[in-house]
Amino acid sequence: MSPPRHRALWLLVLTIGAGCSSEDGEAHVGAGLDESTRGAAGQEATGRADATPSFEWNLPEGFPQPHVPADNPMSEAKVELGRHLFYDTRLSVNETQSCGSCHEQKLAFTDGRAVAKGATDEVHIRSAMGLANVAYASTLTWANPVLPDLERQALIPLFGEDPVELGMVGREQELIDRLHAEPLYVELFPEAFPEEPDEPISIDTLTKAIAAFERTIISGRSRYDDYLAGDDILSAQELRGMEVFFSERAECFHCHSGFNFSDSIMHLGKPFDEVAFHNTGLYDEDGQGAYPAGNEGLYNFSGEQRDVGRFKAPSLRNVTLTAPYMHDGSIETLEQVIDHYAAGGRAARNPNKSEFVTGFEISESEKQDLIAFLGALTDETLLEDPRLSDPWTAR
Ligand code: HEC
Ligand code: HEC
Repeated sequence: MSPPRHRALWLLVLTIGAGCSSEDGEAHVGAGLDESTRGAAGQEATGRADATPSFEWNLPEGFPQPHVPADNPMSEAKVELGRHLFYDTRLSVNETQSCGSCHEQKLAFTDGRAVAKGATDEVHIRSAMGLANVAYASTLTWANPVLPDLERQALIPLFGEDPVELGMVGREQELIDRLHAEPLYVELFPEAFPEEPDEPISIDTLTKAIAAFERTIISGRSRYDDYLAGDDILSAQELRGMEVFFSERAECFHCHSGFNFSDSIMHLGKPFDEVAFHNTGLYDEDGQGAYPAGNEGLYNFSGEQRDVGRFKAPSLRNVTLTAPYMHDGSIETLEQVIDHYAAGGRAARNPNKSEFVTGFEISESEKQDLIAFLGALTDETLLEDPRLSDPWTAR
């Protein structure tokens, strides 16, 4: 249940390789990675239960339906249970932290820190990611090519030791006992998992419920979405910024592409899952493209030199709220992010850098336009939706 995560994930990687890294500076892993190759990667080839007819997704206009694993169909009861678990501090060793401590609704489900801090104050090497639209992410965390499902991902913060996040390693039974002691759970678990009458409360059902809740954290009701739906709502400045964003000059849209502004994407109706990792030239410690040791992106899985510094392009929805930026929170503001790209990368001479990060001219006013456009991606309904909020504070 709780092997050191690098070792466990390495095992997965050894069976699949890290996919193909093309020579063009991008790593596109597993274009065409279908369910059967997933099986070969050591994931359960459980397939997907995409038709869960009774579940009302209530998706924003134009949004595709997310994939759902066959063994974890969606239900209202499961999502409600998952919400309680997501915000329950009893999921951490000293009962101080929940998932929601590092993934706060008001910050589009990130934490406002450069790098995350766990229940025992251990500092993570990476920045907590926003969870909006995580149901569409084809691979999870900043640079892991073999972690596609939310059910498995939840085990990392719960039981990981490097670093400790919730710190429940070796305390599985204690965790189960704590859940049994909460009368609400004694009610909610059997309702959510009627197929498990003997043992409805388990680590398996716990992670399934959390994953089902996470799949409902969907963000697509920003002013930009209203504009796409035909509402003449964006200001002249935002429209100018949109043009910069989608221009061949700035190239933002090449990697932050599609309805979720990310090119690591999967959903119903898409013939294959897109998985991509890019080096934006944040570091070059030795003139040969070195990134800080241990935080080298895809390289930490593949061992391939050309994968040093390759990370997933995160969604830019709600990006105004998710500062500081990048995998290690090393850029504080959107203005500085744009400066980084305009310079062709903060470490522009990085030889592994993507061919889409070559630098470009941008005036001060265009920079403000682009920032204004990114602001139009903020979805206020996400931040206030009571169905996504902490149910325990109301008690
Ligand atoms: C101590 C802070 C912390 C806690 C607690 C925490 N997370 Fe995270 N979360 C992070 C960090 C940091 C990352 C990025 C990890 C990486 O790239 O290695 C992350 C990444 C994720 C991702 C990947 C998102 C994406 O877009 O790929 C998901 C999903 C997630 N967390 C869910 C959870 C769940 C569920 C819980 C509770 C069981 C949880 N987190 C608890 C800090 C935290
Ligand atoms: C080559 C692909 C690529 C291009 C082109 C690109 N990005 Fe990115 N973007 C990424 C990747 C990969 C990351 C994460 C990098 C890291 O943390 O090391 C990122 C991170 C970001 C972040 C930080 C998000 C967060 O939550 O931390 C912002 C903001 C951003 N990009 C905006 C832009 C803008 C604006 C442009 C155009 C000027 C742009 N990007 C062009 C791939 C790209």
